[in-house]
Amino acid sequence: MASESQLARLGLFDARVPRYTSYPTAPHFNQTVDADIFRGWVRSIPENSRISLYMHVPFCRRLCWFCACRTQGTNSDDPVVAYAEVLRAELAVLARDLPRGVTLSRLHWGGGTPTMMPPEVMAEVAGAVFDIVPLGENAEFSVEIDPNEIDDGRLDALAAAGRNRASIGVQDFDPAIQEAIGRDQSFEVTKLAIDKLRARGIASLNADILFGLPFQNNERIAASVQKLLSLGPDRVALYGYAHVPWMARRQVMIPSDALPRPEERLRLFETARDLFVADGYEEIGIDHFALPTDGLAVAAREGRLRRNFQGYTDDTAPVLVGLGASSISRFPQGYAQNAPSTSAYTRAVRDGRYATVKGHAFQGEDVLRARMIEALMCDFRIDAAEMKRDFGATDAQLRAMFDRARAEFGEMVTVTAAGFAIPAEARPLTRMIARAFDAYDLSKAGHSPAV
Ligand SMILES: C[S@@+](CC[C@H](N)C(=O)[O-])C[C@H]1O[C@@H](n2cnc3c(N)ncnc32)[C@H](O)[C@@H]1O
Ligand code: SF4
Repeated sequence: MASESQLARLGLFDARVPRYTSYPTAPHFNQTVDADIFRGWVRSIPENSRISLYMHVPFCRRLCWFCACRTQGTNSDDPVVAYAEVLRAELAVLARDLPRGVTLSRLHWGGGTPTMMPPEVMAEVAGAVFDIVPLGENAEFSVEIDPNEIDDGRLDALAAAGRNRASIGVQDFDPAIQEAIGRDQSFEVTKLAIDKLRARGIASLNADILFGLPFQNNERIAASVQKLLSLGPDRVALYGYAHVPWMARRQVMIPSDALPRPEERLRLFETARDLFVADGYEEIGIDHFALPTDGLAVAAREGRLRRNFQGYTDDTAPVLVGLGASSISRFPQGYAQNAPSTSAYTRAVRDGRYATVKGHAFQGEDVLRARMIEALMCDFRIDAAEMKRDFGATDAQLRAMFDRARAEFGEMVTVTAAGFAIPAEARPLTRMIARAFDAYDLSKAGHSPAV
């Protein structure tokens, strides 16, 4: 591992950099991509090909103070039921343009809390999806689950609909930290949700935990990780807490003077990482861990790991269609985003239109740079031969890009005839190094701390 002073000199503890779930990143989207362009992209999907779908449900029973996700609190089921109807209407609009024979590679329900949908509504929404895009061979259907917001009826409905993966939010098990982040969730409630999911034959279970939370220290994060390990998740996402109260206003409730400093955040991450690795988990990209048998670990070993808006994936479908308010779609031609506000999204769909409001059509070096950044985030290296073969990059073009990163990061990166690589000791710098391959205005670069 590079020394703390080396990392400090390179600016790791001060920088704010994108998480690079897309390139260019969402702040660069603009209104040149509209519903007509979106329709054209949908129509150009090849017949009989595979696509993936993401469905966003922006409602929660409780609003956790730490959460930066776009979601709204409600105690009533009514808005959720009404919203589910709009999702079905959006599917009907999609069905008009979707070429024949298209099947599903991945279906993911995220939020918010998709399990706020009542069981019969879940069944209807899943049925509406499969009527239009049936599940293909080895397809995966995953759902984000808040352990506090799940019951037997909902779990049965999801299992009956074919859900074979789940992701549960843990964040941290420590009661003092839970109190500080406004998320009360006992170990027992979490364990019960996991037991119930397993009893219904879940093939892979992911858990989200956070480092960098208020009052977190090495002992506390170690205790939380040990508890999580006792539940044996197949995958873990270990995200750095992003404190952005100017964007997520409920975070003003978080005691900011109790937040760990950047140097401490790095140690928290390393403490958690070492425990996962010691327990037999493989490190996946910058912030995931997976059992060696899990699909994500297999994909990483075989060089098939990919990165999309949901994080790391082994999905190879070239098209991801995002349904619901604020959802982002990716096509070979570019990105398209739905209206972020639920009301604007609902109005468009009820009028029988797509709700696309912005996006980005790939141009120039975008696709090449997007793949380079994805390769760094997934494999910590860029294969020069792949860039030349698949993206038409020239030696001179690659050399200029590699030299630029080398000038900024010196010995922390290696440049050879085979390409560009980030050695293991420099991995904390990965997102900063990826930024060196980003040609867009970096002042709009995003708001997550580099560590
Ligand atoms: C959209 S939430 C859905 C989870 C589900 N509703 C639940 O509560 O379990 C998905 C994940 O985003 C992560 N997340 C939310 N706010 C975050 C923040 N401010 N910084 C980092 N990660 C965050 C959390 O780990 C959370 O589990
Ligand atoms: S963490 Fe989950 S339940 Fe809490 S506010 Fe965010 S999306 Fe809602």
